[in-house]
Amino acid sequence: MRVSRRSDVAPFLAMDVLSDANRLAREGRSILHMELGEPGTPVPAAVRAAAEEALNRGRIGYTEALGIPDLRARIARLYADRYGVDVPAGRVAVTAGSSGAFNLAFLAMFDVGDRVGLPTPGYPAYRNILTALGLEVVEIPTTADARWQASAAAIEKAHAERPLAGIVVASPNNPSGTMMTREGLKALVGACRDMKITLVMDEIYHGLVYAGDEVTALEFSDDVVVVNSFSKYFCMTGWRVGWMVLPERLVRPVERIAQNLFISPSELSQRAALGAFEASEELEAVKAGYEASRRLLLRRMPEIGLDRFLPVDGAFYFYADVSRHTNDSLDFCRRMLHEAGVAATPGLDFDTGRGSSYVRFSFAGRTDEIAEACERIGAWLK
Ligand SMILES: Cc1ncc(COP(=O)(O)O)c(C=O)c1O
Repeated sequence: MRVSRRSDVAPFLAMDVLSDANRLAREGRSILHMELGEPGTPVPAAVRAAAEEALNRGRIGYTEALGIPDLRARIARLYADRYGVDVPAGRVAVTAGSSGAFNLAFLAMFDVGDRVGLPTPGYPAYRNILTALGLEVVEIPTTADARWQASAAAIEKAHAERPLAGIVVASPNNPSGTMMTREGLKALVGACRDMKITLVMDEIYHGLVYAGDEVTALEFSDDVVVVNSFSKYFCMTGWRVGWMVLPERLVRPVERIAQNLFISPSELSQRAALGAFEASEELEAVKAGYEASRRLLLRRMPEIGLDRFLPVDGAFYFYADVSRHTNDSLDFCRRMLHEAGVAATPGLDFDTGRGSSYVRFSFAGRTDEIAEACERIGAWLK
């Protein structure tokens, strides 16, 4: 059987760590999880109630390709409520998680061979989706000194060397949890407009911000693609429902591709997602748990020998420089899992070069387990 060259993308190391960790747990080992980028809490009661109601009505069918109108309207309202930005429901596309949104957006905006810039370190799926779609990935290295944020100047430099068709930027960022400032984001949006390149802004960690202002790129322009999801703040990873806000002229192209690729997002998940907007109390309590874990790690990490990291603004990750301990983060994570029973993700997932000196620690799990993980790592590193 023939296997395409385009399918030859890198594996997601975090998932490989997870299966190794699960195998050890099945063998009876006590394993603490700091590799997972997903909420450890159950889905909110209001989401389950909305899903039950939909199931009890009995018919779950196809919906409009861009999502049910009620959900598109409710998402549009989120922009008014959270940021004071007016977004017409007609520019909202509901998708199969933000992952579905990236696929649709890239197909609707770029042609095979187009060059797309990715600030690095960054979320690995951008690179792999772009590659599988036949696009050329242009890595734009960022630095810890610049809080791992892409500057407008760095994008302009990459574009001047050879033109880019677009860039994909996340704020807060995965793996570092650092966030762009309002001025930085405004400058980036302006630079992309001037260079006539498309900015795809991944705002999936909005709602989970602990320090600084949460700013959407839509505040500065309607001519950006903003991607978001019910997976993180709303604790709905497994429901596979996300969305994007599109410039007017991309709505119909995305709709045509969505009709053909997916027909529609899952109706059950969309109905359930409507319930998520009624779950603020529960969701804010979950966020308070992350905040407690963040405070704990800010204090404990330096004490246990992981003293090189940037304080996290949002999301639920610490990206630690472990070069004092290793220059092979893959081997470090493997040994930490087997010897200390703590799973974390090698930085190589997010940065194929410098990532060999970094490890991403997720604090999406329970605070007491994270405290225990610190004890184990501390003893192991001694
Ligand atoms: C930065 C970022 N974007 C997108 C995703 C994909 O999320 P989903 O497809 O569940 O919406 C993730 C998942 O970890 C992520 O970290």
